[in-house]
Parts: sequence; C-alpha cells; structure tokens
Amino acid sequence: MDPYFATSDPCWLRPEDARALLERDVDVRGDRGCAATVRREVALLRALTGLEPVAGRGRVVLATLAELGGEGRDDVVGRVPHGLVAEGYAVVPDGDDLVVTALDDRGLLHGFYALQRHGERLLGVDRPVLDVPTNPVRMINQWDNMRADGPMGSVERGYAGSSIFYADGRVVADRARIRDYARLLASVGINALSLNNVNVHRDESRLLTEHLGDVADLAAILREFGIAAYLSVNFAAPIELGGLATADPLDPDVAAWWRRTTDAVYAAIPDFGGYVVKADSENRPGPFSYGRDHADGANVLADALAPHGGVVFWRCFVYDHLQDWRDRSTDRARAAYDHFTPLDGRFADNVVLQVKNGPMDFQVREPVSPLIGALERTNVAVEFQVTQEYTGHQKHVCYLVPQWREVLDFPTRGDDGATVREIAAGRTFGRPLSGVCAVSNVGDDRTWTGHPLAQANLYGFGRLAWDPTLDADVVLDEWLALTFPGAGEVQAALREIMAGSWLTYERYTAPLGVGWMVTPGSHYGPSVDGYEYTAWGTYHFADRDGVGVDRTVATGTGFTGQFHEPWASVYEDVTTCPTELALFCHHLPYGHLLRDGSTVIQHIYDTHFAGVEEVEAMVARWEGVAHLVAAEVSEEISRRMAEQLRSAREWRDQVNTYFWRKSGVPDARGRTIH
Ligand code: GCU
Repeated sequence: MDPYFATSDPCWLRPEDARALLERDVDVRGDRGCAATVRREVALLRALTGLEPVAGRGRVVLATLAELGGEGRDDVVGRVPHGLVAEGYAVVPDGDDLVVTALDDRGLLHGFYALQRHGERLLGVDRPVLDVPTNPVRMINQWDNMRADGPMGSVERGYAGSSIFYADGRVVADRARIRDYARLLASVGINALSLNNVNVHRDESRLLTEHLGDVADLAAILREFGIAAYLSVNFAAPIELGGLATADPLDPDVAAWWRRTTDAVYAAIPDFGGYVVKADSENRPGPFSYGRDHADGANVLADALAPHGGVVFWRCFVYDHLQDWRDRSTDRARAAYDHFTPLDGRFADNVVLQVKNGPMDFQVREPVSPLIGALERTNVAVEFQVTQEYTGHQKHVCYLVPQWREVLDFPTRGDDGATVREIAAGRTFGRPLSGVCAVSNVGDDRTWTGHPLAQANLYGFGRLAWDPTLDADVVLDEWLALTFPGAGEVQAALREIMAGSWLTYERYTAPLGVGWMVTPGSHYGPSVDGYEYTAWGTYHFADRDGVGVDRTVATGTGFTGQFHEPWASVYEDVTTCPTELALFCHHLPYGHLLRDGSTVIQHIYDTHFAGVEEVEAMVARWEGVAHLVAAEVSEEISRRMAEQLRSAREWRDQVNTYFWRKSGVPDARGRTIH
C-alpha cells in the first residue's frame, strides 16, 4: 500500500476529513492519468480509515463530460453550469447520484479534493455547482539545493528542515515524502512546481543533464497529481555544461545548445513544464554580461521550449545589489519597473515574467510592484513568498493570506479598475499564460513547515491561486476545520490567534512600510541599522529629525511616478499616502502628524507596544486550549510562541529605543523605553 504520510503530518489531508465522501459509494470512470489517481486515493483512504459505503448515502460518480456523453447521460451534461474550463469541475446532483464532471482528468482530481475538503456541504448540494481556477498558472517554487553545505543550507530561506527532494548532491531515493507533497499541493489546486533553487549552483545545473533520469521520475510522481515539473536553470549553462566560450543569447551556438538540451529534456519528460530563470540578479549570470537585454535572454530559452509547448518563467528581481549607500539617486524599489517596462511586447508568447508582489523583497509591508500594472503585452505571474523569510522564520505565527489578498485586490490600473488579481488571471490584457507563484515553506520536518500553524500559509496560497476572491477568514476556517477536525474550541482560539497575526507582526517590527530593520543575512530579528550602510539598497535614512525614504517625484527618487493614477498622486502627497506606507514613500520628521492623527514617533512607540501586547494575548489564548491538542503538536506550538514573544519584545525594545535615542522625543504615555 502507498505509504500515505507515513513519516509526516497529513496536514489538511487527514483521512478522517474524507469521512463524508467515503461513506458514499465512489465510482470513478476511466483509469487514465489523474482519474487513476482518484481511484487509488479512494482505495487508500478506505484502507486507512476502514470506512465503507453506508447504505442509503448515495453514490458519487466522477466522470469527464466525454465519458458521461458516452454513457448517454446527456441530461447531466446539459445541467453543467456554463463556464467549465480545463482543470475545473462541476458537481451535478442527479437523483441518488452526485456527479462530478470535468473536461479533463485533472478536473476530476480537483473535484475529488473539493469533496474531501468541503464534505457534506458539497456532497449534499441540491443544485449544480461550478468551480474553475481563476489563474492558469498556479505554481510553487522550491528554493531547494542539492547539498546541505554552503551558506544557505539545503533549502535557501527554508525554516522547516532539509530538502525533501535532495541530499548529498542527488535526488533522494525514497520518494514517499515527495508523493505526499504532490498530494498536498494538488489538493489545493497547484499545477506547477519548480524543483530547485532559483540560485542554481554547480550541482543543480546538472539536473538538466546528468540527473535528468531522476528528474523524470519526480515529474512522473507530480504528473499523477496534475502538476507539471519545472527546473530552475543557470543562464550560463551553455558555458558550464556545454563547454562553450559564451552564453550570449544571440550567439547561434548558444541557441543551438539550448535547443539540443531542451530536446533531450522533452525526450525524457514529454510534458515537462519549462524553466525558471534568475538572471543578472544577485550575482547570477545573465544577458547583461553580453550587452544584451532580458528579452534577448528570455527569448533564447523560449525558442528552445516552444516546439514542446514549454514555458520560461523569467524573474524580474533585477536590481543593483552592489549599490553605494552614499548614492541617494539609485532606488532599488524602482529597479524592476525600470528594467522591464521598456521591454513590454518584446518577449515571446511562452515567456512569463515573474514579478515579486512588492518592489523590494517580500517585506512585511510594501506597496504593490508598479511593474505588475505596467505590462500590457507580456505574460505575468505575481510571485509571493510563503516561506517566512521576513515574517518570522516560521517561529512567529504570521498568517499571510490577508497580505496576499490586499495585493491581489489592489486596483493597480487605477481608473480603469483592473486589479492585480485580474491582471494575474490574464484577463485584463488577454494573456492566457499568467497567474501566481510562490516560494514554498516546506522541508523534511515532520510538520512540513516547522511551525504547525504555518501549514495554513501553504494551504491558503493554493486556495487563493485557484480563487483569489476567497476571503482570508474563510480560508482560515477551512484550514482549521480540516486540521483540527472536531475540535471547535481549538479552532476558535486559533482563529483569534491567526486571523490578525500578519498585522500584529507588522506592528512589532518595521514601522510604516520602511522595512529592512532585520539582522543582515539571516533576516530574523531586529537590527535597525543592520542594512543602513550596506550595498543592498535597503535604507531607512533615520537621523535626529526624521526617518523614511523620499520616493516622490518632486523631491525624491521618482518611484511614486511609476504608478498609474490615482496612485501616483496618492503616494506622492504625504496627506493622501496611506499611513502604512508613509515611510516607504516619504522621509518624515518625527513630529509629522500622520493621517491617523498620531505623530510618526508616537505611532512607532504605540504600534510596537501594541504589537507585543497582542502577542501576549495570543500566547494566553493558546495556553487556554493547548491541552486539547496532541502533545507533540501543542508543545511545538508553545515552544515557538515563547520564542515569538521573546523576539517581539526584542523588536519593540530595539526599535523604540533606537528612535527615542535618535529623536529625543519621549513616549507621550511614559512607558519604558531603554
Ligand atoms: C531574497 C532572498 C534570497 C533569494 C532572493 C530571490 O533576496 O534573501 O535568498 O535568493 O530573494 O528571490 O532570488
């Protein structure tokens, strides 16, 4: 029998979550592709739970539209709501049967997982329901390395143990964990997975060649779950692997090398997804070395992939990481827009520009990247970070779905109203190859995510990728019900603890959108001046009079001018700039009155005290229910919450003390500042 989560937590796929489904007769038609997977999953869940169909509970039939037609069930086909697309599914009650149907077998798989997730609520519907993915691309990026040594360990920015994919320079031999991961991802609708770190080192370059057989095995596991495999590739691979003297994208030998190499990949993996590329970014090679631009760079790979239907995800995280901190004219926040907007329209149709959600780097608060609203003739995937690099390393509770919802809902095109989520869905500019992707937060820890509550972020990303209009609280409730089934009190407490935890994290860390007050390198814990005199372009410019980065057009770096109206004007004018971004867009005196009525300095003090009080309340709330949760899990959560509280106090005290010493302005409420 398939070892279903034999060595790890089943997260939101606890066999008992499938009870309502398993009590019905489940009849899967067809045995190809994901239909075979559904069949196997049902058998497996029955074996694990001992649950058999209960007389009178009816039957669930999973069949594609073509199969229903072949059986003469045209009446059911006729009742499928309008709008079914690939990978989507419809649920149609039909007498004693509940029919789950789809255009393809992947749709049946998603329908099956929806029945598990929603149980009786979906199984008992009395009218047809349609559920289709909004985003064509729903991708997870592993930042996994093949070796554990090196400065970044085996998962770059990973906080949940080692890679589940690689050890000692090879793909792991025991693939059970990878299969469980594919299950988890498919169950929330993910359809693409890049298998290695965007920083592609020596060993990982060879996934394309030497290790291709292993990659094909991984792709086969993912295929069962409707997920396409991608590789991050090294732009200099023609030199490193091919022995060429150059990686110049316009050199015919380079193009031929990429074609040959890509042909070999497709010979081994006919449905391979394509490549993810980090080029000219943080020391990675790229087209700039040859005087070429990023369209030239992306297109040479796209040309090699096109005959096979493959896609290049080309990352836009391109900026000067060797900046002189004395140079006030360079603004990292401008970089992605400045590099890529002029290239709009020059990328091949199978190139997707992968744009981080904000203009800097996954900070707890940033504006939306203005590049997302600027590209009209290019496919776009918005990149999020599920791993908590800047949001507490999965030691802190930080439920990120509300942050992602804010980004997705932002009407970045201003007057014509297109939101980030509409652009990502490819609707605004008719770009069918668009969507969202995110950096994974899993490792080989038994819990997958280190902090058991961080599982909610992986779950939530998948759910939003499928339907970006889902409410963050609804997603949280779904996850709680599946993860702590039957434990109403625990669910209620965790709902209170988690729902607002992103804003709590924001309060006790970097104020008013300024960001970056983290320990350099690790990015954990406070270091107010840690990045102030470095080359990374990440400054707050605090002095005795004020703090923040003037990014206005009138007197600053001009970043605000990269937005469509009304946002350009809204951000430019300090009286209309949203409070939470005040210091991202402006350098303000400590006594400046913010829109919420407090001064900058008092706002810093108040939020930092409030943030810690909120963590204290979270801890107390948790202590009230911890005994209701299995000891192994509850001890893990308690341990991490204790660290969160310690760290939050450290943040509060360092940030408040720093600004008190700089400004000399005391706290209006006379609280302890050191
Ligand atoms: C951040 C992160 C790096 C990562 C980079 C990227 O800078 O700290 O570890 O490589 O983002 O997105 O490429």
